[in-house]
Order: sequence, then C-alpha cells, then structure tokens
Amino acid sequence: MAEARGALPGWVSVLGWGLALCCLCGAGPLWSGSHEWKKLILTQHWPPTVCKEVNRCRDSLDYWTIHGLWPDRAEDCNHSWHFNLNEIKDLLRDMKIYWPDVIHPSSNRSQFWKHEWDKHGTCAAQVDALNSERKYFGKSLDLYKQIDLNSVLQKFEIKPSINYYQLADFKDALTRIYGVVPKIQCLMPEQGENVQTIGQIELCFTKEDFHLPNDLYKQIDLNSVLQKFEIKPSINYYQLADFKDALTRIYGVVPKIQCLMPEQGENVQTIGQIELCFTKEDFHLRNCTEPEEQPSSGQEARLAREASTHGMMVCEDGPIFYPPPKSQH
Ligand SMILES: *[C@@H]1O[C@H](CO)[C@@H](O)[C@H](O)[C@H]1NC(C)=O
Ligand SMILES: *[C@@H]1O[C@H](CO)[C@@H](O)[C@H](O)[C@H]1NC(C)=O
Ligand SMILES: *[C@@H]1O[C@H](CO)[C@@H](O)[C@H](O)[C@H]1NC(C)=O
Repeated sequence: MAEARGALPGWVSVLGWGLALCCLCGAGPLWSGSHEWKKLILTQHWPPTVCKEVNRCRDSLDYWTIHGLWPDRAEDCNHSWHFNLNEIKDLLRDMKIYWPDVIHPSSNRSQFWKHEWDKHGTCAAQVDALNSERKYFGKSLDLYKQIDLNSVLQKFEIKPSINYYQLADFKDALTRIYGVVPKIQCLMPEQGENVQTIGQIELCFTKEDFHLPNDLYKQIDLNSVLQKFEIKPSINYYQLADFKDALTRIYGVVPKIQCLMPEQGENVQTIGQIELCFTKEDFHLRNCTEPEEQPSSGQEARLAREASTHGMMVCEDGPIFYPPPKSQH
C-alpha cells in the first residue's frame, strides 16, 4: 500500500512491516473510481516495537495504543475536509492516552491525528455513524475500549516478556475471545536475532453496525472464558462471586446468573443459566440493569417466569454447584 504523503516518515514505515499470517482483513486493490469500502479495520500497535522499528523514540508506553480506524479499500477521500483539532476538544484526554503519536511524543501530537483523518477518516465519513471528525475519533475510541486488547492479553497471561511466545498464543487467545481471526503484524528479526517481534494487531468490523463479523454466541464464548478462569464442572462447589467476577472482568458487564434452588437434602444452589444483555442499536454488551434504572416490574416478572419454567431463580451470593454431566451407565 503506497503512502501518499512522503512528509510523514515513521507512520510510513510502520505500514511497510512484513505481514505475518493473514485473515479476514483481506485488503483488496484500491478501488480507484469511487471510494467504496466494505470493512473497518481497527489497528492497534505496540509502542516499544514501533520505537524499535524507527529507532527514534523512547519506549515510554506499556499498553497497546490505537494506530487507526481504516476503511479497507479507500484512502484520501476528501482533500477539502480539513482536520480541525477544535472539533475533538472533548476527546483530547482519551486521545492523548489511547491514541498517542508514539513516534513523535513531544511534538505537535495532533499531526498524527490529522494524518489519520486525511487518509482514513475522510473515507470512513461515508457512513452516517462516522460522518464527522467528532464521530470518527469518538467511535474509534469506543471500539478500542470495547476490544480491550490489553486486558484480554493479560487474562491469557500474555504479558510483555524477555522470553518469546508462539504466534499461536496470540492468535488463539484473540480468536477465542473475539470470535474472529486477527491480523498480526511483526517486525522481522534483525541481524543477529532469530525471532520476529509483534508490532500491530488488526481486527475488522462490519461497516453497517460495527460488529466483529461473527455471531454473538461465538463472540461471547462463555465455555472458553470459564475454562480460562479454571471454572470447570466439578463435584465441589464454587462461590457465585467466582462466576460473576470472571465474567464481569472479561465482558465488562455484570451477567445475570440463574440457579436451581437446593433440593431437599441439599444446601447448595446449582447454576443453570447465564444472561448477558446487548444494546438494541448496535449489539454491544451492556449491563442488563443500570444502577439507576428500575426495571419495570411487569416485564421483570414476565422474564422471571420464563426463566423459572425450569424452576430457576437469580442465584444468591454464596456457594454454587457447577455439576458435571452424570455418567451414562
Ligand atoms: C468534502 O468535505 C467538504 C467539507 O466538509 C464537504 O463540504 C464536501 O461535501 C465533501 N465532499 C464529498 C464528496 O464528500
Ligand atoms: C498542531 O497541529 C495542528 C493540526 O495540524 C495545527 O492546527 C496547529 O497549528 C499545530 N500547532 C503547533 C503549535 O504547531
Ligand atoms: C456494568 O456494571 C458494572 C458494575 O456496576 C460496571 O463496573 C461496568 O462498568 C458496567 N458496564 C457497562 C458497559 O456499563
């Protein structure tokens, strides 16, 4: 992919990285007639690798930061739509933290944002949800927070280290959580090295609704998430908080967990159902109940009845069985 503006070394060379294995984010040929595009690519980079590549900046940040939100097949769509820092004044705090200019940390940071807007934002602006600078940068920050790559990698014990990982460690963890295959870019080994260095992770979103393109069930991947936290069916019991804490950590929202009450002769409830809520507009995970929100009692009762067709009720704090299947003989 050619970079139009030669005046921006650093960002140029980042795009020149050798591509490690690829995926859903098939970057096709640039469509030259119209600027039509199909997918959005949220690209995050690892500042120490960016610095290693340009050999210019200090490794000051130890979290993945935004490189950009890129339409897959269009660049530089509107040269007369000039970047105006004032339009994103209210985002500046987040922008500085999550979308810093890693290469020129002390210079005019907004040059990097201007570059991203000119090259990618003016194309993204084709869709209503991104048709202003405020919306483009705001949505990018939202997606970054939703993806929460830093926490996800940590959950899988993938931490910056002087030892090396296998590419599959990253791929498997991210695919499991997001339900889609990320594109992972690396710096090739330098002379005297024989291991590549991870530098950039790309995830694609649908243009229409900003979904990761997979279904919700796979995206949630409850089975894997519980396993990661060593929560497995067992003849011993857990605490309700074990489930709640693990799920809240991964999903960022509080699940509703339903249980069978103890039968006669038992004194521990049994987990039976886990509910997660999504927004109606864009299918983002949300809390089923906001702290300030009083659920309408009629609806709540109706949903509760539905859950209780199996005799289940919202679990109480305390011990909880997660029983394995009874063996079949
Ligand atoms: C380009 O941007 C300018 C300024 O925002 C706008 O008035 C114009 O309609 C845009 N052109 C196209 C083709 O979108
Ligand atoms: C920083 O960059 C912005 C956007 O390109 C520009 O409007 C502003 O004048 C620059 N500020 C300085 C101090 O160079
Ligand atoms: C859901 O609720 C929890 C606890 O009240 C809170 O920490 C979290 O930020 C909420 N998540 C969303 C997406 O609102």
